[in-house]
Amino acid sequence: MLKLLLCCALFAGGYAFNHGQAQLDFEAYMRDFHKEYANSAEQNNAQYYYNYHKNLITQHEALANRNASSYHVKLNQFSDIRLKTFAARLPQSVYPSNSFHTMMPVPPMDQAPPQFDMLANTMTLTAQDQGTVCSSSWAYSLAKSVQIMNALQTSNMKPLNISAQSLIDCAGMGTGCTTQVPQIGFDYLTQNPGTSLVTETEYPPNNSINHEGMCLPTMTASNIVVESYGIIADSNDNLLMRYVASGFPVIVEYNPATFGFMHYSSGVYVPPVHAQASSSQFLVILGYGHDTQSNLNYWRAVNSFGSTWGEDGFIKIVRSPTQPIAKRAIFPNTLI
Ligand SMILES: *[C@@H]1O[C@H](CO)[C@@H](O)[C@H](O)[C@H]1NC(C)=O
Ligand SMILES: *[C@@H]1O[C@H](CO)[C@@H](O)[C@H](O)[C@H]1NC(C)=O
Ligand SMILES: *[C@@H]1O[C@H](CO)[C@@H](O)[C@H](O)[C@H]1NC(C)=O
Repeated sequence: MLKLLLCCALFAGGYAFNHGQAQLDFEAYMRDFHKEYANSAEQNNAQYYYNYHKNLITQHEALANRNASSYHVKLNQFSDIRLKTFAARLPQSVYPSNSFHTMMPVPPMDQAPPQFDMLANTMTLTAQDQGTVCSSSWAYSLAKSVQIMNALQTSNMKPLNISAQSLIDCAGMGTGCTTQVPQIGFDYLTQNPGTSLVTETEYPPNNSINHEGMCLPTMTASNIVVESYGIIADSNDNLLMRYVASGFPVIVEYNPATFGFMHYSSGVYVPPVHAQASSSQFLVILGYGHDTQSNLNYWRAVNSFGSTWGEDGFIKIVRSPTQPIAKRAIFPNTLI
């Protein structure tokens, strides 16, 4: 009887200790990710999903640490919402029925090398942060692809960030934070001749609002004008590879609605065969190669979830003929 009491007293003590520690961990998470909740019900809900994801992350890491998964996961700015909410905040994109890319794309090299990295020449490139309330990767990916292409063409290894916010506000057409696509941004830039992109310094981001703002007039511009854009047919990964190796940062649509993508931290991400939901996130493909640790071929891309997500904001995704990545692939073709 005494033994039984002792055991339970210890158990209760352990529970209180762990409970206290869990509370401290969540408070640290709130500080690290600048979280503020409107009321205690919202905070309890956030803490519930934080704990839930923390457990899943521990389980996944046990697999990854014995090479039974090719990628790692970690807590990030999305860990306090459920997967369904994450998916709903990045709704499936809606495409316009026509396109204006009148010019034939510049032909790429005939044969792509076995590996390629657009940043190999030590370009300093940072992943931007679209925040957690506006689905604006269509604008962030466009801005990033033009920034990279211009940097390569002018050998500027410290390129200025191009403003995605100006595209959201001026080309978003009412769906800039929901279902918009990069093509609309390219059409806006190419159909208004002389419209040059502006830098973030001139048109700063505001990623805490869940709707587009008023299109503000700008004074000076970056002097980067997109003259035309190119499109690659769905699933044509071979052509995608040739364009990427020719120095074109190509944007692709990707389904981010999985636990693994949501919390990705490093390694080669392999999507599950059946995703739980269908959402849209646009990524810029920067290169490809082979990972010896996992023995997998990969694509390397930059996302717009900031540097707290992934490998400083970048991701390696499995490159395989059975899981083509070329989906709605689009790229800046000629810049002037
Ligand atoms: C571009 O934006 C990133 C992220 O906000 C920032 O860290 C970086 O300093 C910016 N780069 C330049 C050249 O201003
Ligand atoms: C972002 O937008 C909100 C709502 O319009 C505004 O209150 C806030 O001051 C803005 N923040 C910045 C940095 O412009
Ligand atoms: C990890 O697993 C992959 C595939 O299962 C295998 O090809 C690779 O050699 C393993 N790597 C190590 C370091 O054990």
